[in-house]
Amino acid sequence: MHCDDLRPASLGLFSEEDLQQPAHIQVLGPQSRVLRGFALPWVEHLLPQLERVLEQAPFRHMVTPGGFSMSVGLSSCGQLGWTTDPSGYRYSPVDPQSSRPWPAMPKVFRQLAQAAADAAGFTGFSPDSCLINCYRPGSKMSLHQDKNERDYRAPIVSLSLGLPAIFLFGGQQRSDKSQRVPLLHGDVVVWGGVDRLRFHGVMPIKEGTHALLGQQRINLTFRQAGAGQEFERKTRSAGQRPND
Ligand code: SIN
Ligand code: FE2
Repeated sequence: MHCDDLRPASLGLFSEEDLQQPAHIQVLGPQSRVLRGFALPWVEHLLPQLERVLEQAPFRHMVTPGGFSMSVGLSSCGQLGWTTDPSGYRYSPVDPQSSRPWPAMPKVFRQLAQAAADAAGFTGFSPDSCLINCYRPGSKMSLHQDKNERDYRAPIVSLSLGLPAIFLFGGQQRSDKSQRVPLLHGDVVVWGGVDRLRFHGVMPIKEGTHALLGQQRINLTFRQAGAGQEFERKTRSAGQRPND
């Protein structure tokens, strides 16, 4: 056997598309990528801003239309915040707890989200909403689609911080088989285009203590929830670094 025969492709481990991506980019689907460690250079700039946002809009456990209290604590920043209560899911310009507008989205949040969208091939991403999810050991998120946004042309950009998680990335139907994708501190997942409405969720977080964030996982999900905009998909892989 020639040694070339032992390339991962010939073992059927990776698709052609996977092999064309730099090692830190994992292909989940035609228009969905995990950008491994993408946010690590940004974290020290992000955390103080996150703290400021959470002082103004602390985590709270919202109730689903089915009457269940979510195990994940939620907050938001940006022009619109995703909320749920017994009357339904919606985006609101106002934090229902304080009756004030959500805290503004810090510039460095927007820059990170745009750089990640760019790196995954979605140029022109302009998030107006950042949902902040706080998971404690045992917290989980059931399979769902992100479909309260007005326009599905913009991708979803999702940053993981703190404790690791197993992200479930399913198909267009709830019953489709899900991929189990480990997500670590600093990883960013981007899905859009033909993958925009794929079901996804998070398995119960395991006990643990993260060096920076302690016993929690924080997920920042950036969305363009309001006005629509044209999005162009290009194949690019270069990341951008924070400039502040
Ligand atoms: C979400 O879908 O809102 C959260 C996903 C995650 O926590 O990774
Ligand atoms: Fe989601």
